[in-house]
Amino acid sequence: MRIFITGGSGLVGSKIAEIAIEKHEIYAGYCHNKPEFGVPVMLDLAKDTDLDRIARIKPEVIIHTAALTNVDDCEANKELAYKINAEGTRRIAELAAELGAFIVYVSTDYVFSGDKGLYKEADEPNPIDYYGYTKLVGEQYCDCVARPCVIYGAKPASGKVNFALWQIKELKNKEKIKIVTDQYVTPTLNTNLAKMLLEIAERRLKGIYHLAGKERISRYEFALRIATKFGLDEDLILPSKMADMGWLAARPKDSSLDTAKASICLTAKPYDLDTALTFLKEEREKC
Ligand SMILES: NC(=O)c1ccc[n+]([C@@H]2O[C@H](COP(=O)([O-])OP(=O)(O)OC[C@H]3O[C@@H](n4cnc5c(N)ncnc54)[C@H](OP(=O)(O)O)[C@@H]3O)[C@@H](O)[C@H]2O)c1
Repeated sequence: MRIFITGGSGLVGSKIAEIAIEKHEIYAGYCHNKPEFGVPVMLDLAKDTDLDRIARIKPEVIIHTAALTNVDDCEANKELAYKINAEGTRRIAELAAELGAFIVYVSTDYVFSGDKGLYKEADEPNPIDYYGYTKLVGEQYCDCVARPCVIYGAKPASGKVNFALWQIKELKNKEKIKIVTDQYVTPTLNTNLAKMLLEIAERRLKGIYHLAGKERISRYEFALRIATKFGLDEDLILPSKMADMGWLAARPKDSSLDTAKASICLTAKPYDLDTALTFLKEEREKC
């Protein structure tokens, strides 16, 4: 299959490319950071012109992961966030329709308000920040909407470290870190997510899927579990509250996702946290 991955340099896109390249023809879109896997294709969703580069490749499937992902940056720069996340997704989906390509869109748990938690696919989205709003607008245009939650992985991507890598580095350096106890999530290992996304793409499954880790946990407990798995000092992790973090954008208190549908429908199933952290450790050891 000829697959175009937007955000091929990112935490999710790079992992999909790494896994998919073994059996598919992979093109990896990027903006500033050249992807490690797949044929790199420069693509700026803030520009109206660049989509011709996807059209020329004629992909059979597009996995759309590219986005302005920094929640506070989206709040501070709403015009750009809308252009990339909402309009960019509409334009890519229109192109997919013209090409007869199946489009899978990686959305987010932030489409939910966080008042309830363990959200199912049928629950009504109600974002409380601009990032979540722009991602929700993008959902309506795509064949399949996959929603993950707090993604982490073994390698830096898109020029950034993710939550788990940052924490491991800080604790190894004996630095104290503040982690919130009042935000609940279902953390998602990028490798697990990439396998589920690839299966959805291969089977061309339509509709909404919550593709996250199986376990609902506070950010603080998550940090403790990472520390335990990597043999790091848990006492360096200081409990904190969301209200004290000085974030610009509001964050959902409990945007954990119910992954039962994915567990039932997919062969590649959501991992429980211990399995995911074991894989993370193995992957880190190979880096
Ligand atoms: N990370 C999370 O915790 C999380 C949680 C829930 C949902 N999601 C969703 O999952 C998807 C993937 O997230 P991620 O963590 O892999 O993101 P990421 O690591 O921040 O990567 C973002 C990707 O988007 C590309 N990109 C940014 N601006 C672009 C533009 N103007 N034109 C074209 N490409 C652009 C980046 O390219 P360059 O690096 O080359 O600039 C990069 O490949 C996103 O849609 C996000 O909304 C993420």
